Amino acid sequence: PKPNIDPAAMLMKSYACQRRTPLKHHNSILTDALEILAQNAEYNDNEGRSVAFRRAASVLKALPHRVKSMEDLRSLPCLGDHSQRVIKALTGIFGVGVRTADRWFREGLRSPDDLIRTGQQLNRAQQAGVQYYNDLQKPVTKAEADVISDIVEKAVHAVLPGAEIQLMGGFRRGKEVGHDVDFLITHPEEGKEEGLMPKITNWLEEQGLLLYQKTTRNSYLEKMDGPARAPNNMDRFERCFSIFKLQASAESCKSNSTTSVQDISTGSETERPRDQHSEESDWRAVRVDLVVSPYSQFAFATLGWTGSKLFERELRRWAGQEKHMSLSSHALYDSKQNLYLRAKTEEEIFAYLGLEFIPPSERNA
Ligand code: GTP
Ligand code: MN
Ligand code: MN
Repeated sequence: PKPNIDPAAMLMKSYACQRRTPLKHHNSILTDALEILAQNAEYNDNEGRSVAFRRAASVLKALPHRVKSMEDLRSLPCLGDHSQRVIKALTGIFGVGVRTADRWFREGLRSPDDLIRTGQQLNRAQQAGVQYYNDLQKPVTKAEADVISDIVEKAVHAVLPGAEIQLMGGFRRGKEVGHDVDFLITHPEEGKEEGLMPKITNWLEEQGLLLYQKTTRNSYLEKMDGPARAPNNMDRFERCFSIFKLQASAESCKSNSTTSVQDISTGSETERPRDQHSEESDWRAVRVDLVVSPYSQFAFATLGWTGSKLFERELRRWAGQEKHMSLSSHALYDSKQNLYLRAKTEEEIFAYLGLEFIPPSERNA
C-alpha cells in the first residue's frame, strides 16, 4: 500500500444518503466553485453535468479534512475526470476562476432596473420578483425565520385549531440563513387538512401580511402516481409560493419607537412594473413556501422537504437502484413486494431503505 493514500477518502461512501454531511466543512473554497459550475450547467440545461458537479462538491463536504493535493482526490467516489480537471484549473488561478464563472452566469440575467426602464410587460409573479428584487436577494436569517414561524403558526391555528406546523428546508437542517422559509402543515385527523391553504392565505391577506401568493392544489392520487407513473420529483401537495411582508423587529428600528401605520399595498394588477421597494423601509419582503400534507403522508413529506436537494435526489437513487423501491414525498413503494410501505416517522423510512438514520443537521449534502 502506498503511504499517501488517504483513509478518509478510502472510506467515503458513494451515495450522499450514506454519508454525514455537516453544514460547516473543510473544503468550501472548492465546493463553492463546483456549485457555481453546477448552477451554470443547470442554466444551460445540462442536467447531467450539473448533477456531476453537485455530487463532486458533496463528496468534498463530507471529507473530514481539507483537500491539499490532487493526490487527495484520487480515491474519492463521484470525482470524475471533468471535476478533477476543473479543480486543478481552479486551484491554480483560484480567485479569477471563481469570479469569472460568477460574472458569467450573472450577466445572463437582466437587471430589474433594465426591466423597469424598458417597460416590459410582466406577469404578476415577475412583477413581484422585480418589485422586491433587492429584498429577495438578501438572505433570510434564522431570527427572521422564527418571526415568520410565529406568524404562520398564528394564521394556521386561527383557521384550523389542532393543526401541526413544522419548519422545513435549510432551517430544519440548522442553516443560519436561507433563500426562503419552508413550512409543512398537517392535521392529525386525516381530511381536516383539505382546503386549508386558501383559508390560511385569506387570513394572512386580511392581516396585510402577504405581498404575493400563488397556491397550487393537491393532485396526488396513490393509484395514478404510484409505480405505474414515470418517476417525477415534483410532488403534488397543496402548495403556496408566497412573499411575506415582514415588519422590522423592535430592536432593529429603535429610532422610531412610535410605530407605524402599515402601508398595505394591496395586489392591484398594474401591468407596468412599479418601482422597486426601497431599502430604508420598515419592512422587508421574504419568500415563504407553505405545503399542506395529509397526516398519513406526513413522514414522507417531512423527509422530502427537509433537503438538501442533493440528499433527496440521492435517497431516491438509492431507493431505486439498491432497493428496488420508489420514494417520493408522498410514499415509499416496494416494487419487489408490490406494496406501499407505511411510515409515521423519518426513522422508519430510513429503516425500510436499509440506511442508518441521518438527522436533518447532517443532510447538508
Ligand atoms: P434555502 O431555501 O436556499 O435555504 O435551501 P433549502 O434547502 O431550504 O431549499 P428549498 O427551499 O428550495 O427546498 C427545500 C426542500 O424542499 C428541498 O429538499 C427541496 O428538494 C424540496 N422541494 C422544493 N420544491 C419541491 C417540490 O416542488 N417538490 C418536492 N417534492 N420537494 C421540493
Ligand atoms: Mn428553503
Ligand atoms: Mn423553498
